[in-house]
Amino acid sequence: MPGDHKILVAIDGPAGAGKSTIATRLAQRLGVPYLDTGAMYRAVALLALRDGLSTALDEAASARVVELMENHPIEVSSGVTGNRIEIDGDDVSFEIRTPECALMASTVSAIPEVRQALVPMQRRLGLENGGVMEGRDIGTVVFPDADLKIFLTASAEERAQRRHRDLVGSDVATSLDDVREQQNRRDRQDTSRSESPLQVAPGSVVVDTTDLSLDEVVERLMAEVANLFPQGA
Ligand code: DC
Repeated sequence: MPGDHKILVAIDGPAGAGKSTIATRLAQRLGVPYLDTGAMYRAVALLALRDGLSTALDEAASARVVELMENHPIEVSSGVTGNRIEIDGDDVSFEIRTPECALMASTVSAIPEVRQALVPMQRRLGLENGGVMEGRDIGTVVFPDADLKIFLTASAEERAQRRHRDLVGSDVATSLDDVREQQNRRDRQDTSRSESPLQVAPGSVVVDTTDLSLDEVVERLMAEVANLFPQGA
């Protein structure tokens, strides 16, 4: 990396494209923090679920989500291997990983005030130390001037199969059909919301991971990084 430049890589894409695993591995290889912005939306979702809200958010329920977020500080600390997420000082890093929380995260992330609160936190984290930042709007909104913008995707069926395999491995009982249905709903919500929808950012490198192994994707991204700084300066 030239001088003391802190590299910032933006990775966006739909659920199940392999973003988290690949972003974590890339961050390790580059020796920079890994920043999982989805976890922040999941923390807001957890607040909403604990409050008994459903994903059918009307205006009053959306206002309640914003109030909950304002009253319960969310803290994120980023590391090379993972992020620790706290609400009111309690570690919720595992609790936010359920399918219910994923769906609720997709729902609350469409509330403009939620994004307006979280995006500045994400910018601050990225500016402090650089990193590999993963989400849905990193290349379009959070860091449109990132050194490298990647859009990771894969076929819907491959993404559902991967997510199902991950969930089975983590003891969450769910069927492939349920995973497919939830993924379709999240894809629809994340790409069609009016506030910062999931889109390919201008200047992104689009990588379809359907037929690629993890190692192949990581090597492909490392090659893109090497292209940015050809002298290794
Ligand atoms: O990446 P994930 O599955 O943890 O994200 C959960 C939800 O959060 C996702 O469906 C949409 C939302 N999200 C977002 O709107 N913007 C981001 N930068 C990251 C996640």
